[in-house]
Amino acid sequence: MSEAGTAKRPLLLYVNTPFCNSKCHFCDWVVKVPIGDLRLGPESEGRRGHLDALKVQIAEQAPALVERYRPELMYWGGGTASILSPAEIETLYGALADAFPMAGIVESTIESSPESLTLDKLRLLREIGFNRISIGVQSFRDDRLRMIGRAHSASMAETSIELARQAGFDNINIDLIVGFPDQGLDEVEQMMRHAAQLPVNHYSVYAYRASEGTVLRRRLDRANAKTDLANQLEAYQLASDILTEHGFPEYTFAYFGNPICQADLAYYQMKLDWIGFGSGAFSVIDGRMKGFRAGKLRDYIAHPTEFDYDLPLSSGAQAGSLIGFALTTPEGVDAEVFRQRTGITLAEALELPEVTAYLDQLCQYGELITDSAGIRFAREDIAKVYISMNWHEQPAEDAEPAPAGPVPVEIGLPAAAPA
Ligand SMILES: C[S@@+](CC[C@H](N)C(=O)[O-])C[C@H]1O[C@@H](n2cnc3c(N)ncnc32)[C@H](O)[C@@H]1O
Ligand code: SF4
Repeated sequence: MSEAGTAKRPLLLYVNTPFCNSKCHFCDWVVKVPIGDLRLGPESEGRRGHLDALKVQIAEQAPALVERYRPELMYWGGGTASILSPAEIETLYGALADAFPMAGIVESTIESSPESLTLDKLRLLREIGFNRISIGVQSFRDDRLRMIGRAHSASMAETSIELARQAGFDNINIDLIVGFPDQGLDEVEQMMRHAAQLPVNHYSVYAYRASEGTVLRRRLDRANAKTDLANQLEAYQLASDILTEHGFPEYTFAYFGNPICQADLAYYQMKLDWIGFGSGAFSVIDGRMKGFRAGKLRDYIAHPTEFDYDLPLSSGAQAGSLIGFALTTPEGVDAEVFRQRTGITLAEALELPEVTAYLDQLCQYGELITDSAGIRFAREDIAKVYISMNWHEQPAEDAEPAPAGPVPVEIGLPAAAPA
């Protein structure tokens, strides 16, 4: 590597696939994506157009990036990245590998749903260098999976884990949800004890968010029912206790396991810049947050190199988002990292009205620790603070859906990010 090369900064390559086999009844990641677009098949004009547009965005934006950055992490998320056909996967990976040096990537994750995984596809993913897979399991009960609109059964979910191992994945995450309004602690306990026995090393456990625009939320509203905060906190604590008992303590809000997911930390702790490719993807780069709005597939296809928004990280809403993400980690906001990322000091950010308003909301549920290193919540308060925020949040009709994790005010983010 040249001297200039050694000075290059690390980069996360993020690719968004805004397609799924189902529009799940709980999911707030794809609320803005019309179901007709979400469920497009690989031969459809929309899917082909998206792949072509990705190739254009990658080829056009990569040269300036490789001058200054070296890719260190890769994450294909969605929607459902594993819904891509083998031919689509090869084309997309080929476009990235033509444009970026891929040899320095240390962690490469693909997000998947159980019904979209076959042994052949998993082997292909390993061959091209994915070394981590995240599988959306949600529950091990068929009645629950049906109720939440999943496209797979419990046995399919278990088979997909076995297939992933057979294909050579030894770094496997599963997503699970606790705290549905009609879910008792016995169901949570059964699910978590079962999960802890599986051949996986990482768990993402999300407290159910009753987000606007989802089928489940509409059902709840019609029945005049609500999620119960105390029940959700208890369910999350139970899940956390069971995973800890089995050697998987929580290392940051909602994440349990070993090795940790480095892409998540890049995202939540602002450890590195990232570039997002695809409809619904966003980037945090050069002190700015830029991206493509979710649900605007045809706009992306028509203009894959023109971001829908391009905002300084020093503005109130963006600074608030970054602070909100970082406070989900026990390390919280590192004042020096924050200044490097945003160009303003943490003290200046804490004076911005959007940031103050957001922190006021968070601080209803936990005490913020402030010192010269930065700000943070005590480890034992983080889940309480953020689960309470989900419950507390009443997004406006036209607000962006909440991403997994924090729900900063005026978030202005599409729901596409590492999870
Ligand atoms: C992009 S998806 C994961 C991959 C894949 N699409 C799948 O569903 O299998 C992100 C994850 O966020 C979680 N999630 C989405 N909406 C949620 C909600 N309203 N409440 C809690 N968790 C949610 C689910 O666990 C889901 O697996
Ligand atoms: S949970 Fe996954 S498969 Fe279901 S709609 Fe959301 S992103 Fe798509």
